[in-house]
Amino acid sequence: MSNYHIKHLEEYFQVYRKSVNNPEAFWEEIAEEHFLWRKKWDTVLSWDFRKPEVKWFEGAKLNITENCLDRHLLTRGNKTAILFEPNDPKEAAEHITYKVLHERVCKMANVLKAKGVKRGDRVCIYLPMIPELVYSVLACARIGAVHSVVFAGFSSTALATRINDCDCKMVITSDGSFRGTKTIDLKGIVDEALKDCPGIENVLVAKRINSEITMTTERDFWLQPLLDAASIDCEPEIMDAEDPLFILYTSGSTGQPKGMLHTTAGYMVYSSYTFKNVFNYTENDVYWCSADVGWITGHSYIIYGPLANGATSVLFEGVPSHPDYSRFWQIVEKHKVNQFYTAPTAIRALAKEGLEYTQKHDLSSLKVLGTVGEPINEEAWHWYDDNIGKNKAPIVDTYFQTENGGIMLTPIPYVTPTKPTYATLPFIGIQPCLMDEEGKEIEGNQVSGRLCIKFPWPSIARSIYGNHKRYKETYFTAFENNYFTGDGALRDEVGYYRITGRVDDVIIVSGHNLGTAPIEDAINEHPAVAESAIVGFPHDVKGNALYGYVILKDIGEGRNHDNLRKEINQIITEQIGPIAKLDKIQFTDGLPKTRSGKIMRRILRKIAHKDSGNLGDISTLLNPEVVQSIIDNALV
Ligand code: WTA
Repeated sequence: MSNYHIKHLEEYFQVYRKSVNNPEAFWEEIAEEHFLWRKKWDTVLSWDFRKPEVKWFEGAKLNITENCLDRHLLTRGNKTAILFEPNDPKEAAEHITYKVLHERVCKMANVLKAKGVKRGDRVCIYLPMIPELVYSVLACARIGAVHSVVFAGFSSTALATRINDCDCKMVITSDGSFRGTKTIDLKGIVDEALKDCPGIENVLVAKRINSEITMTTERDFWLQPLLDAASIDCEPEIMDAEDPLFILYTSGSTGQPKGMLHTTAGYMVYSSYTFKNVFNYTENDVYWCSADVGWITGHSYIIYGPLANGATSVLFEGVPSHPDYSRFWQIVEKHKVNQFYTAPTAIRALAKEGLEYTQKHDLSSLKVLGTVGEPINEEAWHWYDDNIGKNKAPIVDTYFQTENGGIMLTPIPYVTPTKPTYATLPFIGIQPCLMDEEGKEIEGNQVSGRLCIKFPWPSIARSIYGNHKRYKETYFTAFENNYFTGDGALRDEVGYYRITGRVDDVIIVSGHNLGTAPIEDAINEHPAVAESAIVGFPHDVKGNALYGYVILKDIGEGRNHDNLRKEINQIITEQIGPIAKLDKIQFTDGLPKTRSGKIMRRILRKIAHKDSGNLGDISTLLNPEVVQSIIDNALV
């Protein structure tokens, strides 16, 4: 038997060594014993980080939905697969069993086929956290179509960019979404986006909020009547191991988002194996990840990882503050949640509200707590440990990225001793290293550097959709023959890793990756703006917030700085979404630049961090004189 479920530290080290000393043999054993294959592979792994090219389980044939659904029907048909908890606590929760989920996914798959979606086609999914989202994702996988889920908080412009970048032919959306006491007009946003998306042939619309919407004849269809008429039988399309499964966008250093391309077999094996161990999942546990399916955490740890393990996965539509700040804990009590996985920003926001919200709920079902998406500060870690886990449920601080597909650094609960703010040790099969700025590996402990991974793991993204050159440049050029994460990290005296934050132009705000370039591009579209630069600064709840320095050309009639700030944030909301709004906007006459004309963000960052006493040598700047005036007018 392979070591599918690691139970003690000795075993972790032993399995880790095995996974590193002979990765092919190790992953072959895991794949062989725990998944359903229509045909086994010819080669376990072939790779070359210089090209870069990575292939896992080449020659194998499978369908991931057979692994997530069909194979559970005999033993777990009546077990809850998806436990849907609506936005409104008065609306009943829905227990969707494996049998029912299988039927609905097959129906949905038949609807997609009837509307002309074929193997390899891209389908954009722009839905709130409702069961149709899960049906849509799995229905695409069932027929070999490639899903591209776009977080339903993105604006119409951002949606259009993502639809066009991967040339989707269909959008699946809903009339609208509930968010606390608000509703959001999703269909209106889609209609706006589609003005610029000539490739879209059909829009399928789930009914959720019963709002009045416009349906375009022959293009738009209500989903429910189509589902009602569809058959519950749909043979899975038999896919090759390296066939694309999904595209998921993430921000980068240019305005164009990067469509990370994930493939089938390796992703399935890794998301499933990590899920089992990182959450110590055992049969009959109720697991809840509060992320949105629009992010990688939702793909791997709400849908694929849990379902591949036959787990019960909670799907929560609402927000932590509705009807009040006890909602998360109320849900934990109501469904007797055993594993709870959320973002540090949510923990900080809830910790601020005081203990009366946590104390009135029975949280004794909790066995494992997880965090993901950004560094967790010590205070938030202890608050979570003391008040939610009651010092009994270990916290797994899990580090990974959209590009990774699955968790890379993490404690294994009840196995790895935890340490606040540390993601601790690499998961099985992961070979991290720290690099100095010259590209040399930093050996030993108590060191810090840039975090790279030396060896491929099964769920690494294979490319950026349509732009392999950018994939190579972004991840495989800075450090030869290594995958570069873009994060800085330190390794302590026992070899535990702590992520110290991004070392590139990505800022993590409330756990969302935001590239500075797309935000600056949006701001620069304002007629009064000549130039802008964005940096992050520490924020109590969001982790980081955004600080913009803006040079105006002509303020324009009837405008003052206050309404300009509003207009700038309005443009950002329209182009990207409300998550990218700036907390502070400073108008300035100049930005510090190098002699080659590059903005020196390091200086701007220090000023926003209230650290302007320590700017270092600025004499080499093209315009050192602007620095003092920026400091004098800083909003800190
Ligand atoms: C950050 C999210 C510290 C990191 C799953 C990474 C973290 C980026 C952690 C990826 C963590 C994620 N501790 N930082 N436990 N987890 N990050 O692609 O900067 O949305 O590069 O994937 O989030 O964000 P993404």
